[in-house]
Amino acid sequence: MKENLIIFNAHIVTPLGSSARKGEEMSQLHHIEKGTIEITNGLITYVGPSRNNEKSGFRWGYYWYDAQGRCVLPGFVDSHTHFVFGGERSEEFSRRLKGESYMSIMENGGGIAATVKATRDCSFEQLRTRAATFLKKMTVMGITTVEGKSGYGLDRETELLQLKVMKSLNNDERKQVDVVSTFLGAHALPQEYVGRSDEYIDFLINEMLPIIRKENLAECCDVFCEKGVFSIEQSRKLLQAAKEQGLLLKLHADEIVSLGGAELAAELGALSADHLLQASDEGIRRMAETGVVATLLPLTAFALKEPYARGKEMIQAGCAVALATDLNPGSCFSGSIPLTIALACIYMQLSVEEAITALTLNGAAALNRADSIGSIEVGKKGDLVILPSDKYTILPYYVGMNCVDVTVKEGMLYINN
Ligand code: NIG
Ligand code: FE
Repeated sequence: MKENLIIFNAHIVTPLGSSARKGEEMSQLHHIEKGTIEITNGLITYVGPSRNNEKSGFRWGYYWYDAQGRCVLPGFVDSHTHFVFGGERSEEFSRRLKGESYMSIMENGGGIAATVKATRDCSFEQLRTRAATFLKKMTVMGITTVEGKSGYGLDRETELLQLKVMKSLNNDERKQVDVVSTFLGAHALPQEYVGRSDEYIDFLINEMLPIIRKENLAECCDVFCEKGVFSIEQSRKLLQAAKEQGLLLKLHADEIVSLGGAELAAELGALSADHLLQASDEGIRRMAETGVVATLLPLTAFALKEPYARGKEMIQAGCAVALATDLNPGSCFSGSIPLTIALACIYMQLSVEEAITALTLNGAAALNRADSIGSIEVGKKGDLVILPSDKYTILPYYVGMNCVDVTVKEGMLYINN
């Protein structure tokens, strides 16, 4: 719903620009102490110091909201999730607590394969209802745009079903979150193709990509480029074909083994390389040089008890870093924005300012949307979060606790508590 709204008496804090902020630019936030934001038909039409007519508090057709000096930031962009799936894997989590590794569970038929089985058993309605409950939780934490991936079907019908669920959620007139869809058919090798992974890649290229393109079911194509999953060569082949079909590229890169995924992302001009726990120095240098957004997912490192990605070093090397949750039923069953921020600041040494840019403008850039969301500027969507304080430094301080009072989606106010 696109609304008319005037928020006044706000401490406006935002990165500026219509592309990813790299390196030192990530800590440069623009402030307006006593500011006003005017949103008309869902889009920002004024940002600046309070104007004279604010004193009268009336303008025909606009809802007025007094922020009482509290901090207003751009809406959060969660640019990497897997929120459409069936089943759950809490028993696998218990096995990992006892020492089994994520990859050994996957190699023995569990992990992603378990969710594939559960997802194939779901109807469109079942998947949609479940996914919608995640979207509701996201709004409360200030997420106004989310990316979601397929990858739990690994067959024609179920991959398309996941993408159609996301399309239907995004087409909902009353939606509170925009959904950007990514095709992740190369998430794992399905049972039916064991020992024939090259053939599976060919199936994705020849049979899946054309339908996805024709039915406009995804904007991006992703691949789990990992030792024992899909190789650099297979990933390159699939992503090149996806690019030829007009899809934008993303990679699950260098998560468990340093395979050269970051370098491949740079070579192919991908929007982002994600995870990067094991990214090499050369990979970091290449991402900085080519402007590939380094999307870091600290909740996954936390849940897998793996060392965190070298966030601060990446920023110092000149990368544009984004933060996202990676919400999924296996490696990271959490979509917690507050904990993502806290972990990024505590363990990856990001400053609060860098974390804000990473979750807003750089997240938007990782979805090719930096020209329309991710900052509070005229012409962009009226997507905002309002904190309970005039200080944005409360964000990592609220460790794992939500501190978003109000979420604004295209001018519509949602009061969270
Ligand atoms: O981003 N690493 C691969 N894919 C997901 C996990 C998927 C799962 O375990 O179900 C990730 O961590
Ligand atoms: Fe992921």
